[in-house]
Amino acid sequence: MGQPFLIGDQMTGGYGAADILHGCTIAVEKGEIAVIVGPNGAGKSTAMKAVFGMLKLRGGSVRLDGEDITTLSPQDRVAKGMGFVPQTSNIFTSMTVQENLEMGAFLRRDNIKDTMAQVYDLFPILKEKRNQPAGELSGGQRQQVAVGRALMTKPKVLMLDEPTAGVSPIVMDELFDRIIEVARSGISILMVEQNARQALEIADKGYVLVQGANRFTDTGRALMEDPEVRRSFLGG
Ligand SMILES: Nc1ncnc2c1ncn2[C@@H]1O[C@H](COP(=O)(O)OP(=O)(O)OP(=O)(O)O)[C@@H](O)[C@H]1O
Ligand SMILES: [Mg+2]
Repeated sequence: MGQPFLIGDQMTGGYGAADILHGCTIAVEKGEIAVIVGPNGAGKSTAMKAVFGMLKLRGGSVRLDGEDITTLSPQDRVAKGMGFVPQTSNIFTSMTVQENLEMGAFLRRDNIKDTMAQVYDLFPILKEKRNQPAGELSGGQRQQVAVGRALMTKPKVLMLDEPTAGVSPIVMDELFDRIIEVARSGISILMVEQNARQALEIADKGYVLVQGANRFTDTGRALMEDPEVRRSFLGG
């Protein structure tokens, strides 16, 4: 097998002098779902930022479809087909749902109508609420706006940092179903999840990060069945 579609390879770096990531590697294949789990402060969000170009690396590289993109800006990575939904502040609350989606397509010069229709097909509630300020939506609906906004660039890979944060179990299941649907359409998904069990269940590949380094890497299923992973990271 060749190299993964997207890989942050042996990433080392942090925000100041101290490194947060220590040779951390995360990757996702075409149309697959890769999930990153681990304790609070493990560096999951930092790893995502590094892959998206929001953090300067002191070591390692990031490659997309075989191309070294380590020095590209986030905006250039979007142009290359990467979409990112950060953990916080991922929508414009005073703008309407539709304006949020339009903002997502800011780099595109072609007609965005079809993509908008696809996003509304995926998340019908957003169509209903398209003229409402996004800040008036529920937590789960806001996450749909955030994911929809990232989809507006027609990404090849979608990176999601805790897409189900703060939503009920039912809404979480629903969101995961939509994410599976996106992956089936050929878009790679790289996501961080606090709901480790449920996320690993739908993951082709899983990463357990601890203190900025890879602790366990395997298929989602194998991680779920690993006694040590269960005991230490999945609550038994
Ligand atoms: N902007 C920042 N400036 C300085 N240090 C930061 C910054 N963001 C995060 N850190 C530090 O980096 C470490 C890893 O944080 P990170 O947000 O990547 O963890 P995480 O695994 O995503 O945690 P959580 O599960 O709580 O989201 C923490 O020690 C945190 O304090
Ligand atoms: Mg985080």
